[in-house]
Amino acid sequence: MNRLQIYLCRQLSHPSGWGGRLLLRLLNRGNASMNQLALAQLALQPGQRVLELGFGGGDLLQRLLQMSLSLQVTGIDPSAAAMGFVQRRFRRAIASQQLTLHLAAAEAIPSVDRQFAAVVTVNTLYFWSEADIVLRECARVLQPGGRLAIAYASRAFLEQRQMTQYGFTAYDPPDLEHRLQYLGFVDIQTVTGESAGNGQFFCTCGTADLNP
Ligand SMILES: C[S@@+](CC[C@H](N)C(=O)[O-])C[C@H]1O[C@@H](n2cnc3c(N)ncnc32)[C@H](O)[C@@H]1O
Repeated sequence: MNRLQIYLCRQLSHPSGWGGRLLLRLLNRGNASMNQLALAQLALQPGQRVLELGFGGGDLLQRLLQMSLSLQVTGIDPSAAAMGFVQRRFRRAIASQQLTLHLAAAEAIPSVDRQFAAVVTVNTLYFWSEADIVLRECARVLQPGGRLAIAYASRAFLEQRQMTQYGFTAYDPPDLEHRLQYLGFVDIQTVTGESAGNGQFFCTCGTADLNP
């Protein structure tokens, strides 16, 4: 792996500086199909509260805000560059309080319990310090019957690009499905997609227990 690839892997996990801002623009194009697939799994209803973990350049936030469902959207991301970029991009939605943003990581979601009808995250799973901590946080902030969707690139793709050597943890769908099952999620399933930029990718989904 050359220096450029190492730099890119670091930026993908935590965009910063001018390079980060450029990357955030590219991510919005490159990850559009994954965002679309994840969104389709949520079956959102008007007026619901939705949380995105790791919004990056905000392509999925944009899709949520444009849905004409009057959703209440919250996004968290630990990168100050991503936060600044998205704050500028969605000034109006923030001012009208349709969108709330927090500089925070998925391991400690700054929300009270049972806040959201849906939690969605795309291309962030690789960077979680511990998957079970984040999944437990998702279960905590989801309303009973709320939906979780996690989209991620395949192990084969990450290994082929040598990203697993530089900070990316790869997951396979059965592993993630078992973790969700253990935490009491039901209706667990994984759907598959493919795009030029991400190769084969997955979206693993589950519904929070109706009787926790
Ligand atoms: C590869 S980018 C993906 C951005 C966007 N979701 C997309 O698919 O285009 C990863 C994003 O996850 C954020 N991130 C990294 N670690 C995170 C964590 N522990 N919790 C939440 N977000 C995290 C990064 O700051 C970055 O904005």
